[in-house]
Amino acid sequence: MTYPAVRMRRLRRTAALRSMIQGVNLRTSDLVFPIFVDENLTDPLQIDSMPGISRLPVSGVVDEAKSVVKQGVKGVLLFGLPKAKDEIGSGAYATSGGVQKAIASLKKEFSDELVVITDVCLCEYTSTGHCGVVKKGNVMNDPTLDLLQKVAISHAQAGADVVAPSGMMDGQVKAIREGLDDAGYTDTAIMAYSAKYSSGFYGPFREAAECAPQFGDRRSYQMGFGNSHEALREIELDVNEGADIIMVKPALSYLDIISAARSQFNLPIAAYNVSGEYSMVKAAAGNGWMDEKAATLEILTAIKRAGADLIITYFAKDAAKWLKQT
Ligand code: PBG
Repeated sequence: MTYPAVRMRRLRRTAALRSMIQGVNLRTSDLVFPIFVDENLTDPLQIDSMPGISRLPVSGVVDEAKSVVKQGVKGVLLFGLPKAKDEIGSGAYATSGGVQKAIASLKKEFSDELVVITDVCLCEYTSTGHCGVVKKGNVMNDPTLDLLQKVAISHAQAGADVVAPSGMMDGQVKAIREGLDDAGYTDTAIMAYSAKYSSGFYGPFREAAECAPQFGDRRSYQMGFGNSHEALREIELDVNEGADIIMVKPALSYLDIISAARSQFNLPIAAYNVSGEYSMVKAAAGNGWMDEKAATLEILTAIKRAGADLIITYFAKDAAKWLKQT
């Protein structure tokens, strides 16, 4: 009988040894919490498919952010639901829009203590539910760019630290960078949803943000899930157009993409742990089929291990609490 000379279990013997050799540690400051601002509400409205997450009235955003900051989370990502939708998503760049008001109140309350990131897209604001202007059934790229510029400028004007274009229109990062610079917002950063896949995991979000396409789907602008080189091309384009942070979205089914991006690019990488990824864990945990804390910390650490520097997640507040306990 020969016994193993190398014993991997030696360093797994005690909790102290295990934590000493842990390669990847999730930090609260890695997390960004998404907030839905609904202009139509006076009270929070629970989102059925996302237990624990609500749409908030503009007046409720500061209190929500207080609970985020209290946990040590440093960033929020704002989405808006307007009073009215139209073909050109004009609610998205209204100076008195819900998101614009929310940005201003957050900056007034927290100044630089909180990083305010805003989603720059039209789909919550267009009557078609598409991320761009539609003509004869087609989502038009270039006319949409002008509108995205306006949206980004209106957010910067209100005080946003980072704008995050998520519509997957070609040239959107360049258009937004030029728009911001021309308007004097040279310090407003761009977090580009560079590699955004057309995904079944956005289902609950579309209920949350009322932005399901009214016809067709998003496959003419979001990426197909069978492709990986295309993601790297998308990222490369955004880097060249002036993105400050790139994003891979969703996160969990695309860890290989995060990892490939990490090895090829030198700027910060964000990963979006999307609504469906949240709801799956919540549903299983709610049925007693999975330990929510264990599964969530494993998922978020795996996203970081793949190479993400920041993680946008609906679990941000809970994860921050759990990280304090470990
Ligand atoms: C809008 C947008 C979507 C998400 C973020 N921004 C939905 C979509 O593209 O259909 C999804 C976020 C989530 O599922 O948590 N462009």
